[in-house]
This record gives sequence, structure tokens and C-alpha cells, in this order.
Amino acid sequence: MINFENINLSFDGVQVLRNVSFNVPPQQMTAVLGPSGSGKSTILRLIMGLIKPDSGRVIVDGEDVTQMSERRLQRARRKMGMVFQHNALFDGLSVAENVGFYPTYVEKKPWKQVLAEVMELLADLGLADSADKLPSELSGGMRRRVALARSLIYHPTILLYDEPTTGLDPYMTEVVVELIAEMNEKYSVTGIMVSHDLPTVYDIADHVVLIADGSATVVGHPSELLRSQSSEVIGFASSWRRHIIEYSAEIERKDEGPEAR
Ligand SMILES: Nc1ncnc2c1ncn2[C@@H]1O[C@H](COP(=O)(O)OP(=O)(O)OP(=O)(O)O)[C@@H](O)[C@H]1O
Ligand SMILES: [Mg+2]
Repeated sequence: MINFENINLSFDGVQVLRNVSFNVPPQQMTAVLGPSGSGKSTILRLIMGLIKPDSGRVIVDGEDVTQMSERRLQRARRKMGMVFQHNALFDGLSVAENVGFYPTYVEKKPWKQVLAEVMELLADLGLADSADKLPSELSGGMRRRVALARSLIYHPTILLYDEPTTGLDPYMTEVVVELIAEMNEKYSVTGIMVSHDLPTVYDIADHVVLIADGSATVVGHPSELLRSQSSEVIGFASSWRRHIIEYSAEIERKDEGPEAR
């Protein structure tokens, strides 16, 4: 469980988050939505303790990460995996070396032992044949999968995704979305995903939080984006309204599809 409690945060005198409070339910996928520059990536960085708020607490599994020493933070981060907005793979290392980077170079585990774990994970993600390739030899979607594999190597209980499908074509988006849903289920992780992609949010989010004008609004299930009476949600959803209506109708049709009957 992750709780934001009255977080205030300014950068260079500009307040980005104002009294932000919300809960992230355990073992579900929470989507963080909001306009560009509203503070979504900042929310993820606060959870990892990479930045400190001016005031307020971020409680991760009962512990306030805003008050932790760097050493305790490093321990706390072990249970978190992060898939960044950009893949941030090491270009000079193979896929297997990228995925096994932290256990090998940071924890100094023997490569043979790491490789066995890496290969198991790569097989899970359909990347076994790419173990010896360099990132530059892979498609964008495959690179995203390698980034996901790298964050799964610790078997994290919390996975943070910053726009995991941005820049992917519709087919690869679907592949990555399916993979995220599958991994969440398989490893029972608590997921938090920043996304601009409505189908992605509808497909994998159980819970939506909107960040806009410095405040957080808990929307609830993605379908509430259409029903909510909150002025923040109405304002944000209006630009999306047509897409939301079209997409909800499509989902309903799918739900009432032949296999449901
Ligand atoms: N380290 C920093 N120093 C100064 N300003 C920052 C820093 N990090 C973020 N900001 C500012 O804080 C605001 C929120 O940034 P953030 O990256 O969280 O937005 P975002 O919602 O993720 O945007 P996007 O959708 O474009 O990724 C922006 O105005 C940004 O310029
Ligand atoms: Mg961002």
C-alpha cells in the first residue's frame, strides 16, 4: 500500500503539488493521468524517494520514504521496479547483460547465477532468442520488454511505469499492455502507471487518479472518467470525451461478445 499524505512540492518557487493526498491500493494497477507538466513523473519520483517534498509524507508499506536516509532508501527501492519514460538501456551491453546489470555490477552476484535468472525471465517475456543481441538490434517494443525484464529481476512488489506505451505503434502497444497485465498478475505487484494512452488506461487500470493544477482527484474505476461530477475530472475528460465514449462503447461490445453469451 502507498499513501500520499498532504504533499506540497515546489520547484524553483513554483508549486507543482498542493496538498496532494491519495492512496494506491495494493496489488492493483493505478493509472496517474493529467496534462503535460502536471507532476505525474514527479509522483513516481517521490515514491522512489528520488526527490523530497517541502512537506507531507509518502508512506510505502508503512514507512515514510520522505524521511529515510539514503541507505534505507536503497533498501526500500529493492522492492520497486521502474520502467522509465525512455528505456534507458545500456547500448553497449547485450540484452542479458542489461537485464542482469544490477545483480551483477551492483550486488556483485556471480554471472552464472544471474544468467540463469535472466534467462528464465527472458523466456517469460518472449525474449529468449534475443539474449545476446544489442538493444540497437531490437524493435522499440522489444526494447520496452527488455526494460520491463530489467525491472522484474528483483521480483519487485511495486512496479512504476512512466508512459510505458508512448512512442509505440498500436500493435506493440497492445503487446506491451498485455505483458504488463500478465506480469502484474503473475507477480501480484502493486502497479502505478503514468499514461496518456486511453486504451492502455482502460485495459489495465483498476483505479485512476488525476493530477491537475497541483491537486490530486481520485477518480476510481476508469469508467468514472465519464460519470464523475468533479469539476477537475470533467475539465480533463472533456478533451477526451469523444474518445472515452467511443472506447467505452467498444469495451461494452466486447464484454457482450459471443464468448460472454
Ligand atoms: N528537477 C526539477 N527541477 C525543476 N523543475 C522540475 C523538476 N522536475 C520537474 N520539474 C517541473 O515540475 C513540473 C512537473 O513535472 P513532471 O515531469 O512531473 O510532469 P509530467 O506530468 O510528468 O509531464 P509530462 O506529461 O510532460 O511527462 C513541470 O513543470 C516540470 O518542468
Ligand atoms: Mg512525465
